Amino acid sequence: MLVAPSLLSADFLNLAQEVEKICATECDYLHIDVMDGHFVPNLTIGPLVVEKIAKIATKPLDIHLMTKNTEFFVSLFAPLKPAFLSVHIEEVVHLDRLVNLIKSYGIKAGVVLNPHTNIESLRYLLPSLDLVLLMSVNPGFGGQSFLPYVAEKLRDLRTLRDKIAPNCLLEVDGGVSDKNIALLKECGADMVVAGSYVFSSDDYKNAVLRLKV
Ligand code: DX5
Ligand code: ZN
Repeated sequence: MLVAPSLLSADFLNLAQEVEKICATECDYLHIDVMDGHFVPNLTIGPLVVEKIAKIATKPLDIHLMTKNTEFFVSLFAPLKPAFLSVHIEEVVHLDRLVNLIKSYGIKAGVVLNPHTNIESLRYLLPSLDLVLLMSVNPGFGGQSFLPYVAEKLRDLRTLRDKIAPNCLLEVDGGVSDKNIALLKECGADMVVAGSYVFSSDDYKNAVLRLKV
């Protein structure tokens, strides 16, 4: 399982130490949550702070945009060269065009689905995607409980993925912990985001290892 700890739950007053500490674990990516106060009822960090994080991080970035005006935010964050840049399907009218725009920066393109959003609308675009991120909480905050129905959705998406888009990774974000990692593995996740579970632990290394199933 690929693991991407979410910095949303890190201690922002000691961000540099937190980045160094989390990069010293076996994690695979650093998950960065960008919230605009419009698409979700919360605000986080912008490109100035993410650029500083990228300078000291020894793990590649997995940027999750929770924004309106998605094209504008892509133009702000793509130049920072994250490994993945993901946009919410609910917010984008011309998704094919936006995916191509992200790829034109030489980075991998991801599409995020809110918990209730049907996977059917991805059927034809899936082979062009590098990543699909399934939200397993309503986006906007860390520390929420995993929505159990997302397990069935993940199973269905995994079946479709295996059939038509074997290179597209499936990521799950929200309420992930050692309590549900076995279920997520069994349902077909390739990668998980974990915020509060990792950062509320007093041993980041072990918390990450427990998710690397
Ligand atoms: C929620 C964010 C998540 C969040 C996950 O909108 O997309 O990445 O940080 O936090 P936990 O793991 O605490 O649910
Ligand atoms: Zn996220």
